[in-house]
Amino acid sequence: MLCFFAALVLGRADILIADFEQPTYGAWEVSGTAFGPGPAQGTLPNQMTVTGYTGHGLANSYFGSDKSIGTLTSPPFTVDRKFINFLVGGGAHGWKTAISLVIAGTAVATTSGKSTTTQDTEALTWANWYVAKWQGRTAQIQIVDYETGGWGHINVDQISQSDFKKETVKPQPEPEYKETYRPQFHFTAKKNWLNDPNGLVFADGEYHLFFQHNPGGVQWGDMHWGHAVSKDLFHWKELPIALVPDQHGTNYSGSATIDLANTTGFGKDGKPPMVAMYTAAGKPFTQCLAYSNDKGRTWTKYASNPILNHIAGENRDPRIFWHAPTHEWKMALYLDGDEFAIFGSPDLKKWHELSRLHLPGSSECPELFEMPLQGSKETKWVFYAANCRYMVGTFDGKVFHPETDPRMLDFGQFYASQTYTNVPNGRRIQIGWMNGPGPYPNMPFNQQMSVPSDLTLIRNADGYTILRQPVKEIDGLRTRTIAGESKSLADMNKVLSGLKGGLYDLELNFQLIRSAPIHISIGSHDIVVQPIDKSVSFLGRSASFATATGQIKVRILVDRSSVEIFMMEGDTSLSCYYPAEDTKPKDRKIKVNFPTKELEIESFRASELKSTW
Ligand code: FRU
Repeated sequence: MLCFFAALVLGRADILIADFEQPTYGAWEVSGTAFGPGPAQGTLPNQMTVTGYTGHGLANSYFGSDKSIGTLTSPPFTVDRKFINFLVGGGAHGWKTAISLVIAGTAVATTSGKSTTTQDTEALTWANWYVAKWQGRTAQIQIVDYETGGWGHINVDQISQSDFKKETVKPQPEPEYKETYRPQFHFTAKKNWLNDPNGLVFADGEYHLFFQHNPGGVQWGDMHWGHAVSKDLFHWKELPIALVPDQHGTNYSGSATIDLANTTGFGKDGKPPMVAMYTAAGKPFTQCLAYSNDKGRTWTKYASNPILNHIAGENRDPRIFWHAPTHEWKMALYLDGDEFAIFGSPDLKKWHELSRLHLPGSSECPELFEMPLQGSKETKWVFYAANCRYMVGTFDGKVFHPETDPRMLDFGQFYASQTYTNVPNGRRIQIGWMNGPGPYPNMPFNQQMSVPSDLTLIRNADGYTILRQPVKEIDGLRTRTIAGESKSLADMNKVLSGLKGGLYDLELNFQLIRSAPIHISIGSHDIVVQPIDKSVSFLGRSASFATATGQIKVRILVDRSSVEIFMMEGDTSLSCYYPAEDTKPKDRKIKVNFPTKELEIESFRASELKSTW
C-alpha cells in the first residue's frame, strides 16, 4: 500500500519552455522570415482558421504564406522531467516542417504537422516526447519550416517539461452514469480519475464534496480539486472544477470551512466566505489558501500564498477547524513518516506550531475532531490518518492526548477519509476514497467514494469504539423493502432470490448456537462470517468484530462495482471493490448458507435501492 502511495506523489510542477504569449520571440534565435517578427496572434492572412492553441500567441510559420522558410531555436535548457509536451499542427513534410529536440547538435526527437490535403485542418493537437533518458542533459528546441509547397508551414504552442503526458482526447459522447460498472449510489467523477475527498463542508443546505481529480485521464496525475454538491448525500451534481494547478504546483488534498467571523477578511457583502486550505504540490510542498464568495462555485487563490512554507519531507493535507475554547483556528498537518503536527492561527493566514504527534503505521490526511460520547455528557477527541487508524483522547487546545491504542475503522479499500465541517445537530458524517486497482474495462471514470457514513462514539468492554454506519439518508433510495421474521433459511433465501436490480441494502441478524461459518454469496463471491474467530472476510480482505452475546449483525450494501460490509451496527466495516466479470452486475444473485443446527436467523431486512443518477 505504501509503495502505491509513494508512487502517487511523484508529480512535480511543469516547467514552461515557451507559450509564445510575448510580442517577440525573446531569447529564441530566429532565421529566415517564415515565423514573422514575433509570435502570430492566431490565424495569419489567407490562412485557414487556426484552432487548438492556448492563450493568444503561437509560433506560426505561415507568415508570408507557404512560400516562406525559416527556423526558430530556443535557448539551451536542462532536461528535468519525464516528458516534453507541445501543441503542434500544420504540414506533414517530415523534417521539413518539424519541431525537434536537439542535444549536442543532433535532433534526438522530431515531430511534424499532420496535414496534407485541403480536407485537413489547421488544428493544433498535443504531442510529446519521453525525455527521461536525457535527464540532466542540455537541450534546445528547434522549429523549422524548409517547405515552400502546399501545407509548407508548421504551428507550435505551449512547450513544457512535465512528469505527465498531455494528450488530445477525441470528443466522446458525455457519460450518462448508465455504464455497466458505474456505481449507482456511490459517487464517481463523471469522467476520469478521482481520489481523496477534500474540503467536506456543509453550507446553505448543500453538502460540498471536493475531490482529488485528474481531469485529463483515468489514472492519477495533474491534481485539481473537482467539485460536486448534494442536498441528501446521495444525489450529487458535479460542478465545474474548483481549484486548478498554478505556479505553486498541482493542488493536493486539504479541507474547507466557513469563516463565520470573517477572520480572513475574505468575506463579501457581509457574508462569510468559504475558505479552503490545500497543499500546493510544487517543489517543495507548501500549504495554500483559496476562498469563494459564491457557495464554492468560483474560487480565488490568496495572493500571498503559500501561507505555510515547507516544514518536512512530504508535508501535506491540512485539516482546518475552528476551536471555540481557545478562540483560534487549528490545523492538523501531515509532516513525514508517521509524524503529524498541530498548528494554531487567528486568521487562517498566520500559523504557529502547537505540538507534534506520531501515529505508528499511518501517514497522510490527518483528521482531528471532537465527538459526544454516547449516553453521557462527556465529549472526546479523535485523531486519525489516511489509513483510518484512530486514537481517542483529549485535546487541550495545543496537544492531543491519546487514551487508546490505535484501532482501525475500516479494513477494506477505504482511504483518506474526511468528515464534514459545519453540519447542524453535531452529526459527524464521513466519506472515504475507495482506493481501487484501476479502471473497469471501457469505463470513462476511475475510482469511487464510499457511501457517506455517520460516526458515533461509544464506550464498551473494548474501551472507546467509533461506530460507522451508512447515513440514514440512504432510506430515501429504498424502492422495495421486505422485512422477515421467519427463522427459516429457506424462507430467507426465497426472499433474497427474488431481489431485482442489483442495488441492495441487506440487514441480516443471526444468533449463534454453535460455531459454523455463514456464507453470504454476492454473485460468485462469498462474504464469510466466522462467529468463533469473530471475523468477516470478502475477496481476500478480512476484519474482526466484537460480539459478546453471540448475536451477529451484518449489513451489506451492494452496488454495481462495490460491496460495503458493516458488522455489529458499525463496530467494523469492510469496503471492497467487486471485480469485473461476465455476470452483469445487476443480475448478481444473493444467497445465504450455513448449517442450520449451528445458527439461527433472528430477523432480516432486504431493500432494493434506486439509482441516484
Ligand atoms: C492520499 C494522498 C494525499 C495527497 C493526495 C494526492 O491519497 O496521497 O496525501 O494530498 O493523495 O492526490
